[in-house]
Amino acid sequence: MVEKGRTKAIAVVGAQWGDEGKGKVVDYLASSFDFTARYAGGHNAGHTVIFNNHRYVLQLVPSGILRPDKKAIIGPGTVVDPAALVAELENLKRSGVEVRSRLFLSNRAHVIFPYHREVDKAAEAARGEAKIGTTSRGIGPAYEDKMARRGIRVCELLEPECFRIKLERAIAEKNAICAAAYGHPLETTGLLEQYLELAAHIRGLVADTAVLLNNALDAGESVLFEGAQGTMLDIDHGTYPFVTSSNAISGGAATGLGVAPTRISGVVGVTKAYTTRVGSGPFPTEMPDLDAEEVRARGNEFGAVTGRPRRCGWLDLVVLRYAKMLNGIDSLVVTKLDVFDEQPEIKVCVGYRHKGQLIAEMPPDVETLAQIEPEYRTLLGWKKPTPGVRDVRDLPTAARDYLNFISDQLEVEIGMISTGPERDATIIPRGTRLATWL
Ligand code: GDP
Ligand code: IMO
Ligand code: MG
Repeated sequence: MVEKGRTKAIAVVGAQWGDEGKGKVVDYLASSFDFTARYAGGHNAGHTVIFNNHRYVLQLVPSGILRPDKKAIIGPGTVVDPAALVAELENLKRSGVEVRSRLFLSNRAHVIFPYHREVDKAAEAARGEAKIGTTSRGIGPAYEDKMARRGIRVCELLEPECFRIKLERAIAEKNAICAAAYGHPLETTGLLEQYLELAAHIRGLVADTAVLLNNALDAGESVLFEGAQGTMLDIDHGTYPFVTSSNAISGGAATGLGVAPTRISGVVGVTKAYTTRVGSGPFPTEMPDLDAEEVRARGNEFGAVTGRPRRCGWLDLVVLRYAKMLNGIDSLVVTKLDVFDEQPEIKVCVGYRHKGQLIAEMPPDVETLAQIEPEYRTLLGWKKPTPGVRDVRDLPTAARDYLNFISDQLEVEIGMISTGPERDATIIPRGTRLATWL
C-alpha cells in the first residue's frame, strides 16, 4: 500500500460560473494520470476538447477518456440520464473512442427520468422573470428526489423487479403532485420498458466506483478529479438561487466519489482571462452589450450544450479570491488569453463597493451582489497574436504583465496558460507546482 497522501490525486475545478475550459485542461493533464473521475452534475455540463482537427463535446463522460488506455469514472455524486449517456457513448464510438473496460459508472449514481426534465421546464416557466435559466436537463429535480430520499439509483435500475416497483411508486407520487399542480398527470407510457432497455446498454459499465478508486489509490495509481460547472454555481457557495444543484467545488470530489478529503493532494483552478456566465443571476463585471458582443464573437462564447450565447464580463478577482479559498487552489490555469489579443485595454475587477463602502467578502445574497459597483484597474493590451507561443518568455510583455498581475493579486501561481482551443495551444511555465504533477 502506498503511503497516504503520496499518490497524485488532483482536482480540476471551475473558478467562475462554468465553461472556463476545464475539458481542455483535463484532457491536457489526463495523459499524466491513470484515472479521470467526474464527481458532480450531469449532462448539464459541456466540456469541449479539440485535437487532430476533431472537436469532442463531453457531457457526462470524463474528458480523460480521450486518452487511449486511461480509465474514467462517473461517480456516485453525479446524476445520470441513461438515454443521454448511451447517446454520448455512441458518439464517442463513432469518433473511434472505445470505452469498454475503461469507463466505470457508479452503482450509486442517481438516475434522471423524463419527468425530471418536465418538472425542470415547468418550474422554470412558473418562475417567469425570476427563472434560473437552467439547461432543462432535469438536473435540479433529480437532485431534489435524491435529497428527498425518493430517487432511483443505477443499482436499482439494473434489477428489473425492484426497478418496476420503485418506478411505479415514484410515478404515483409525481402524478399526485402534478395533478394538483398542473391539473394533469405525467406522460409515462412505455417508461419502464424504455429504461429497462437502456439499462441493458449500460450494465457492463456499472461498478462500485468508490472501492475501485480507493483500491487504485492504495496501489499508487494517480487520479484527476474533473469538476463540472464552477465555484459560483455551487449549491452551497455560489450565487444562490442562480446555481446548479450540486457541489462543484473541490470538496465535492470527496463526497461525490467516496474518496477521503485527505487523499486529495492538489487543486487546480481554471479561469478564463475574462468571465462568462450562462443563465440568469447577478454578474458584477458584465460588459456593456457592444464589448460583450466582441468578446463573445472572438471567444466563440456560445454554450456547448444548449447553444445559448454566454454573457461576457471582465475578470473578477473578488470571485477568484473566493474560489481560491473555497477550493484550496494551489495552481491557477488561465484559458482564452488569445481572446484579448486585439484588445487595446483590459479591465480587471480588484474590489467590490456596495453603497459606496468597500466590501471585503463575497455577499451571500444576490440582491446585494446585483447592487455591487466593481472597482477596476485598467491594464494595457498587447495587440499581438499569442496562439503559437509555447514558452511563457515569448509572450508579449503586456500579456505577461496581465498574468503576473493576476498571480500577484491572488497570491497563487499560474501553472498553465491556454492560448487556443486546441490541445497544443498550451503553455506550461517551468518551476510551478502544476509542472510537478505532469
Ligand atoms: P468547460 O465546460 O469548462 O469544459 O468549458 P467549455 O468547453 O464549455 O467552454 C470552453 C470553450 O472555450 C470551448 O469551446 C473550448 O474549445 C474553448 N477554449 C478552451 N481554451 C481556449 C483558449 O485558450 N482559447 C480559445 N480561443 N478557446 C478556448
Ligand atoms: P460546465 O461543466 C455553465 C448553469 C445553467 C444555469 C444554472 C442551473 O460545462 O462548466 P442546471 O441545468 O444545472 O440546473 O442549471 O447552472 N450551468 C452551467 N453553466 N457551465 C456549466 O457546466 C453549467 N451547468 C449548469 O446555465 O444558469
Ligand atoms: Mg462547458
